[in-house]
Amino acid sequence: MEYIRFDASRASEFVKEYELAALQPAVNAAHATLHGKTGAGADFTGWVDLPLMYDRAEFARVKECAARIREDSDVLIVVGIGGSYLGAKAVIEALCPSFYNIERIAAAKAHAGDRKNGKNRGKGVAVLFAGNSISASYLADLTELIDDLDVSVNVISKSGTTTEPAIAFRVLKAHMEAKYGKAGAAKRIYATTDKARGALRQMATEEGYETFVIPDDVGGRYSVLTPVGLLPVAAAGIDPDKLLAGAGAAHARYIDPDLAKNDCYTYAAARNALLAKGKLIEILVNYEPALHYLTEWWKQLYGESEGKDGKGLFPAGVDFSTDLHSMGQYIQDGRRALFETVLLVDAPIRSLTIAPDAANLDGLNYLAGMDVDYVNKQAAEGTYLAHKDGGVPNLFLHLPALDEYSLGQAIYFFEKACGISGYLLGVNPFNQPGVEAYKKNMFRLLGKPGY
Ligand code: PA5
Repeated sequence: MEYIRFDASRASEFVKEYELAALQPAVNAAHATLHGKTGAGADFTGWVDLPLMYDRAEFARVKECAARIREDSDVLIVVGIGGSYLGAKAVIEALCPSFYNIERIAAAKAHAGDRKNGKNRGKGVAVLFAGNSISASYLADLTELIDDLDVSVNVISKSGTTTEPAIAFRVLKAHMEAKYGKAGAAKRIYATTDKARGALRQMATEEGYETFVIPDDVGGRYSVLTPVGLLPVAAAGIDPDKLLAGAGAAHARYIDPDLAKNDCYTYAAARNALLAKGKLIEILVNYEPALHYLTEWWKQLYGESEGKDGKGLFPAGVDFSTDLHSMGQYIQDGRRALFETVLLVDAPIRSLTIAPDAANLDGLNYLAGMDVDYVNKQAAEGTYLAHKDGGVPNLFLHLPALDEYSLGQAIYFFEKACGISGYLLGVNPFNQPGVEAYKKNMFRLLGKPGY
């Protein structure tokens, strides 16, 4: 099993080694605060030891229910927003083939007649998401799409009261009950929520849904390795054991606060050092469309954790080489207030060789015999050199391969770096008071009682 690798050396002209070393005392203090549970938000640090201390019985039930969903459904609809969907979406997009949902839905529609006798089942269901916007067209299109398919729903909300998923779930619950009857629908609805509080917990109890618990001490954006992420991921056919094994390996590797031995803390220190030098924006860069949602997950993790009290790096994301043709100009040449953290997958996910062409009308024969992945990697190297010359520091995180083990490590790497980084910055990385502001106005405009 190979490890992920962080590399700050290629940004050494922007952050010197001695500048990072100078942060060691602050890193030691942040480490002691996080592990000693003595800092702001300490009640929400259960994720730190989660890869070792998760509820084994609950995890076994997650796998059983995922297997049941794979057997009796064509589609799983995951209803949630923010931390209640981004982790699962990130992992599924990263590890399933590019067009997995199209393939699975097309196969289900083509073999609708076979479904009753269990053909075309078992490997992984299509996983669609709802409740992460308030779009009428999205919900209407979704319910039309699933009309002739067998469906399960996993509704996820830690508070159990969030408006976006509540609206989507009301629509989908009605759809399920019309299709399967009340009792039949209840067997296909899985609720992941707080163990005791909130409207969703109460509804799940009254309706008799299978439920999973989001631990009290794990906030939404740190919850991907709880049933929040693991049930959808396992239903998609991804191995949750390997994901947890990767996170467990990262837990062991990032336990020593010594910056010389801890890549994760070096990342946290480097980004704070760059912020102190006026780099106000961190851009997470990927070179694989499959990693788009890992970036979205990362943006939420860092944006909600650090953007408060007038502080924090602004977390942005780009998909290269796509965005080299849009944001590339700004990154190369605009305000010099940004740095990049580049995700690189070392082993090709798949191989595709460029064939020679006798006519060579497109002039591409100089690439003949090369793998497309090799070309992509030269694009990454060329971009690094250009951006460095343009004054943009580049940090790198290498994933040896795009698999469960690497991704589990990367998830834990970013979570722990975020906790440490937030404490280095002097904020509570585990609350999100700013998210409430829009809700109050919306509720007042909609006439919600009490607003
Ligand atoms: O990270 C967080 O805590 C938030 O982004 C929540 O995940 C998000 O607001 C959804 O909340 P809930 O799960 O309570 O519906």
